[in-house]
Amino acid sequence: MKIFVTGGAGFIGSEFVRQAVPNHQVINFDKLTYAGNLDNLASVAKHPNYSLAVGDICDSKAVAGALPENCDAIVHFAAESHVDRSILSAEEFVRTNVVGTQVMLDVARHRKVKRFLHISTDEVGGDMPPNGWLNSDSPLRPSSPYAASKTASEHFVRAAVHTFGIDALITRTSNNYGPYQFPEKLLPLAISNALEDRPIPVYGDGMQVRDWIHVTDNCRALLAVLERGRSGVTYHMGGGGPLANIDVLKLLLKILGKPETLLTTVTDRLGHDRRYAVDFSDTTKELGWRPEISFEEGLRATVDWYRNNTEWVRRCRSGEYRKYYEEMYGEREATAQAI
Ligand code: NAD
Ligand code: DAU
Repeated sequence: MKIFVTGGAGFIGSEFVRQAVPNHQVINFDKLTYAGNLDNLASVAKHPNYSLAVGDICDSKAVAGALPENCDAIVHFAAESHVDRSILSAEEFVRTNVVGTQVMLDVARHRKVKRFLHISTDEVGGDMPPNGWLNSDSPLRPSSPYAASKTASEHFVRAAVHTFGIDALITRTSNNYGPYQFPEKLLPLAISNALEDRPIPVYGDGMQVRDWIHVTDNCRALLAVLERGRSGVTYHMGGGGPLANIDVLKLLLKILGKPETLLTTVTDRLGHDRRYAVDFSDTTKELGWRPEISFEEGLRATVDWYRNNTEWVRRCRSGEYRKYYEEMYGEREATAQAI
């Protein structure tokens, strides 16, 4: 397939690109915001199946200019993805996540792209009650500005399927973890802080529950959905074992051999959802997919990766990973903000 990936320099997008490149031609269209890191793609940068186009998904001319003829699929990852940043300011989230998605849908329709895979999140369902599991029948009750923007973008995808009959699918995934995740998110932040014996911030009581899925498992599912999913359907992926943040962090410290005194309670996130949990039986039943990496196994491997890639973390934290971009395009945005 000829696949046009948006946001392929980010955490999940880069794993998808690394998995897809051996078998598919991949064009990675990415604005290279603070979250876009070309270091993540070093292993495929010179592969004949891979190319990069730097641009903004809100710029329809740039998207149309980079889109190849006879494109088989758009896989749309590009988004502002961090909840805390959306609480500080929602503007960029509405622009990129909502307007950008609509631009991508319009270009896909006008250029007759065969398939559109929209990457969404379990956060569209909002706070799940103690025994609730998100599936296609769940009401959409986003809590944060980030989640609200992702919910709005889902609506535009469904509207394009309904109104124009385009071939589009949606995936909702729970919290991904694994290598190359920007150290603003809980696990990479906690691992890299703990490796340097620095405190780990625990929001509120640490009893918020998240359903962790290894990014490799998630991207295997995305390829299956892309290749074999049905248009108009929303597929769910989760890790299968929702866990409280405090238990995740205690397990992490045990693996690292570091003391629990590193855990430091800080002020809770505003409007912090207590529980996410995903019912992924639809994806198992229809596509035969299920997560293969247990949380403890995946966490150990992730810890090893961060331990062996301190230079990647250092370049993230110092902002050096953006040098290539700044040299080409000028210093436009702030480099990595204080982490
Ligand atoms: P990320 O923040 O690591 O990467 C986002 C990428 O999008 C970056 O490469 C960035 O440069 C690019 N981008 C941002 N704005 C852009 C724009 N206007 N034009 C072009 N490119 C732009 O994100 P991630 O964690 O890899 O998440 C990828 C997708 O998966 C997002 O849509 C997110 O909502 C969704 N998702 C993430 C998770 C998770 O746990 N990380 C879980 C479920 C769903
Ligand atoms: O559920 C899927 C979502 O997972 C994705 O849609 C988002 O793009 C992704 O960022 C992630 O959102 P979360 O808010 O769940 O992830 P984050 O890593 O920011 O936080 C995970 C949990 O840990 C959450 O309950 C907040 C808490 N937390 C986070 C940080 C950064 C802390 O306790 N301390 C921290 O320093």
